Amino acid sequence: MQRGRRVLVVGATGRLGVAVAHALAQRGDRVVLTARDPGRLQALAAEVGHEPGAPAAFVQADLLEDGAPEAIAESARRAVGQVDDVVLACGPFPRTPLDALRRDDLRHTLTVHAIAPLLLVQALAADLTGSRGAVVALTDAGVTRPYTNHVAYLTAKGALQAGLRALSVELAPEVRVNMVALGIVADPEADADPLRLHRLATRTPLGRFGSPEEVVHVVLSLLDATWATGEIWGVGR
Ligand SMILES: NC(=O)c1ccc[n+]([C@@H]2O[C@H](COP(=O)([O-])OP(=O)(O)OC[C@H]3O[C@@H](n4cnc5c(N)ncnc54)[C@H](OP(=O)(O)O)[C@@H]3O)[C@@H](O)[C@H]2O)c1
Repeated sequence: MQRGRRVLVVGATGRLGVAVAHALAQRGDRVVLTARDPGRLQALAAEVGHEPGAPAAFVQADLLEDGAPEAIAESARRAVGQVDDVVLACGPFPRTPLDALRRDDLRHTLTVHAIAPLLLVQALAADLTGSRGAVVALTDAGVTRPYTNHVAYLTAKGALQAGLRALSVELAPEVRVNMVALGIVADPEADADPLRLHRLATRTPLGRFGSPEEVVHVVLSLLDATWATGEIWGVGR
């Protein structure tokens, strides 16, 4: 696989986005970062620049806002000329107990996890087609093996999976669209219940949570998997 790809990393400042951005930069790809927090974007950009002394390009945007996908596509294109590949690693993991679930919870999670990413891929379709590109999205093993208190999040990830599978057909054969369905890497609720970590980890066959490096390994493999599209690879389940 030829290196030096221009890769847009969405959710670049998150636990997994940071690891993906570093790994791409390390193997000689040129990253464009996007998330909301400008300070974290700037700090990461300084670490993953393509050439010594030159920070990576970044686009500050809130995926909840109408027009964000198109604005990100345009700014990324302005920064690097054309986007070759996209890694989708964005979005919140809100706890939404069923008795308190509100319409806005569903609206927010669906917008950030599914609607905006799908529109972003649509906005970049010509770029991706021109460069025979790949899209890799992080989704959640809970879509097919649901857990409690996360109806909004799991619904949104299910919508993302269905939408990206549809795009894999729409954009074939030039663009490959694949996903990684993850078990737990980091559990945001672990502090509230220290025993939970042990309980959850020992429920999986491998008996532990994953590491960002283990996720990166699969993301890079799927970016490079030239005979795969519409696939959802499971890890850590
Ligand atoms: N970590 C896990 O154990 C795990 C398990 C299964 C699936 N996943 C999935 O893997 C992906 C990455 O997970 P992670 O643990 O790295 O998540 P994370 O640390 O919470 O990072 C989320 C990223 O999304 C950005 N983001 C959140 N809301 C946004 C918005 N409205 N507009 C634009 N950007 C937004 C955040 O940056 P800003 O706050 O600056 O915007 C951050 O860069 C997510 O899709 C997650 O659902 C993770």
